Amino acid sequence: MNHATYSETETARDDPATAPFGTVFAKRMSITYFKNEKWTEVEMVASDQLTLHPGAHVLHYASTCFEGLKAYRHADGAIHTFRIGANVTRMQQSARLLYLPEPGEERLKMMILDTLKANEEEVPEAPAAMYIRPTLIGTQVCIGSAAAPSFEACLYVLLSPVGDYFTGGARPLRIVLEQEHMRTAPHAGIVKTGGNYASALPHIMRAKTEYQADQVLFCPEGIAQETGAANFLLINDNKILTKDLDETFLHGVTRDSILRLGAHMGYEIEERPITIEEVLDWCRTGEAALSGTAAVLAGVGELVHNGEIVKVGNGEIGPNTEKLRQALVDIQLGNATDHFGWVEKV
Ligand code: PLP
Ligand code: COI
Repeated sequence: MNHATYSETETARDDPATAPFGTVFAKRMSITYFKNEKWTEVEMVASDQLTLHPGAHVLHYASTCFEGLKAYRHADGAIHTFRIGANVTRMQQSARLLYLPEPGEERLKMMILDTLKANEEEVPEAPAAMYIRPTLIGTQVCIGSAAAPSFEACLYVLLSPVGDYFTGGARPLRIVLEQEHMRTAPHAGIVKTGGNYASALPHIMRAKTEYQADQVLFCPEGIAQETGAANFLLINDNKILTKDLDETFLHGVTRDSILRLGAHMGYEIEERPITIEEVLDWCRTGEAALSGTAAVLAGVGELVHNGEIVKVGNGEIGPNTEKLRQALVDIQLGNATDHFGWVEKV
């Protein structure tokens, strides 16, 4: 039986910065339950157990949504969250779209802050960070509720000290252009729900097996949309170009941050549908990158198009990608002025 406990993962706990992303957990998490139309008092509990009835709605009908944001330890030792409000708002939206009980803004924000405080000593030194994973699941016990939502729920905030998301540190990524399959049903792309990741998995696994790719860029109807776990941006010396927002894909907080920061740094920002042909044409001289909380801003070195490997620029991480990534990280770590009000002391 593969049943990891704290003691089995003890070695990884020693160095969260180099352990695989999301495999090390802070010891305590906050938890609350929605029952009889109201939330229970938030409790701080051990983070390695959760009791769930086997008939819980989430286990059968995927009534689940989650968030991903980070907190950073600044040079003075103080801990700061990045754009916590945006993630709270997006989680509320996901809950509504899944007909799950919606956590109030104040409750969710307080749970995140209290969980960080309860695990303060586990927030790693920069450039590692504390990844925060608020999770909402439908706990109604009724396996007949295939066409009905869960009226009961559990909300918890799990913390995981993390380093780089992609293994091998900062290196140019290989991305397959997927033209045949969608990541998820078009109306559900905007929801940060587990089912979307399950839906994308066969396509990502094929890309990994056939092309040793890091990820897939989904291009429904020939338009570059998003990858399996990050948004997609084209970048050059003057401009940042990315798909305009619609409900088919996740509205990344990092995407928004890079666009706003880029505008502030003098880049022209363009949001519109981008065809695959345009992506390929752009990549002859320009740069491509993935944006996400986990990925930060990760440079793309190669695209796989119709089975052929196409270099992006010279195949290395582009200078503008690096400049924008550094500018973002500088704000997150408190090494540059936050003109946007994104960073909040815990
Ligand atoms: N798209 C998908 C499918 C994701 O899983 C993520 C990661 O959270 C993103 C985009 C980027 O979102 P964010 O920048 O808010 O982390
Ligand atoms: C994130 O960037 O927060 C994500 O959700 C990506 C992932 C690990 C699924």
